[in-house]
Amino acid sequence: MCGIVGYVGPKPVIDVLMPGLARLEYRGYDSAGVALNHGGSLTVLKQAGRIADLQGLVDREGPAEAHTGIGHTRWATHGAPNTGNAHPHMDCRRDVVVVHNGIIENWVDLKAKLVENGHDFDSDTDTEVVAHLIEEMADLPLADAVRKVMNQADGALALVVMRKSEPDVLVGARRGSPLVVGRGKGENFLASDIPAFLEHTRHMVIVEDDRVVEIRPDEIVLTDLEGNSMPLDERMVEWDFEAAEKGGFDTFMLKEIFEQPHAIADTLAGRIESPGRVVLDELTIDSEILREVDKVFVVACGTSYHAAMMAKYAIERWARLPVEIDIASEFRYRDPVLDHRSLVIGISQSGETIDTLAAVRYARAQGSVVIGVSNVVESALARESDAVLYTRAGPEIGVAATKTFTTQLVAMQLLGLYLAQVRGALDPGAIELQVKELLRLPDQVEAVLARADDVKELTSAWVDTRDWFFLGRSGDFPVAMEGALKLKEIAYVRAEGYAAGEMKHGPIALIEPGVVVVGVATDSHVQAKTLSNMEEMKARGGTIVLVAEEGDDVGHVADHVIRVPSGPDLLCTVTAVVPLQLLAYYVATARGMDVDKPRNLAKTVTVE
Ligand code: G6P
Repeated sequence: MCGIVGYVGPKPVIDVLMPGLARLEYRGYDSAGVALNHGGSLTVLKQAGRIADLQGLVDREGPAEAHTGIGHTRWATHGAPNTGNAHPHMDCRRDVVVVHNGIIENWVDLKAKLVENGHDFDSDTDTEVVAHLIEEMADLPLADAVRKVMNQADGALALVVMRKSEPDVLVGARRGSPLVVGRGKGENFLASDIPAFLEHTRHMVIVEDDRVVEIRPDEIVLTDLEGNSMPLDERMVEWDFEAAEKGGFDTFMLKEIFEQPHAIADTLAGRIESPGRVVLDELTIDSEILREVDKVFVVACGTSYHAAMMAKYAIERWARLPVEIDIASEFRYRDPVLDHRSLVIGISQSGETIDTLAAVRYARAQGSVVIGVSNVVESALARESDAVLYTRAGPEIGVAATKTFTTQLVAMQLLGLYLAQVRGALDPGAIELQVKELLRLPDQVEAVLARADDVKELTSAWVDTRDWFFLGRSGDFPVAMEGALKLKEIAYVRAEGYAAGEMKHGPIALIEPGVVVVGVATDSHVQAKTLSNMEEMKARGGTIVLVAEEGDDVGHVADHVIRVPSGPDLLCTVTAVVPLQLLAYYVATARGMDVDKPRNLAKTVTVE
């Protein structure tokens, strides 16, 4: 997500902040900004676009003598990616500046109260509420005010705040989103990521969740949210720059696989209201129009198409609407029957895939309502849809989609339940049950990741296996398709994703000793049938791997079982795909492949 860097010390702050921001560039961003405190006066410079654009502004207008400051690269989640929404943000009196990474879930309520109290807002961001909340506490030391803000704000967030009247101090706070302190000699740093300060110091201090940290040139003070002082947990960073960019993981893909619990939690943030209602305020389509819809079409490409497959099950099951799904490049050419009662959902993490855009344009030209599902704020898909639902996975650098896929699954489940809610197709109690289970997903994915080494060990026997099948039924079918696609993409081996029940109509002829067959069997209402299909594969000599829920009795069918936490049928798609991402990853890396940049593939495909 967003990148943060802050500095207090003797150096000209701009010489620390700008290279620090450049070190965070690889993560992707849409705007950047700095705030500089020079002897009790503040300069804020920010700019949509590249850091080079900001550098031009800093060269023209930046004061050379500032020694305390904060910088930020923004990846938009609330509000368009323009200069006004770029960080840092300020209060009405231009006394407080703040940069932020994460999502303040209750920002709408906080903002409404602040506006009632007479505050003027300059941006559409959730972040700006922090500056105005601190403005209301002008009599408190900055760290006390930040603690109070942390006690009011819900959600995952990391903040760094500076005040004009306290020119030698930065205050940081963390809950969920990353924040670390770099300890120097007579200087200190605060950053979202280690690369931002690695050229100055290798000493870092960990900031745990719900902690507030004050840094001055010669002092680091860590407290909890009640103000109790906490011991400093200091470590040496052994990584070089390249390893630090990847958070210590070998590749971006592995880092992104491990970021999934956080990405899923962010995608759910603020979208579920107690005791269990789905709130999608961003879907600015009149409920009456959604009630009138008589058919849904979901269009997407690649991995996003597998999210579309799952969406079909979710929307049909919960909202009781007929759903057709299409590979976007096929959609227009079959002359689909669309009208103003058709709802067309385009799923694209980049929001720039030309086939998906063309499908969505075609649908709008037929008068259909279009919802875009994208990971990139203000992407072409977002701009060209009637409404947009964002996944909040943060930038994904590995070419093979991982965290953007699981967040798409979550977004589509939210959308399915929302449509059911609006149309009264499912009773509120049933929706409540599902959303409570959705909220468990981040922890469940974490539990699957904790067993990554078991998957690695399992795969070591199959490094040279050339033929793989991935099978599933119902909600497990898209998971199997995605497992096969991941392996093809990054390990360059033949892997077929198939509906388990369809194998007997042809592909079973390919099963023989040496073929690995991965069955996904988490969907309880078809599990028995999937298992008997797997028996058929076993009888023909295939090596059988099963992905099954904890406690399910499947051992008799499988040579190897990979367990995932138990949960409702469709929701298990999210947990079940994670071991398959890992499986593809470990096979590919054991084969020596460059998983972040697989051959012949592009992250975003803008040609038909
Ligand atoms: C490319 C990528 C895939 C991705 C597909 C659709 O082929 O390599 O990983 O799934 O595009 O991308 P989108 O941005 O539309 O989701």
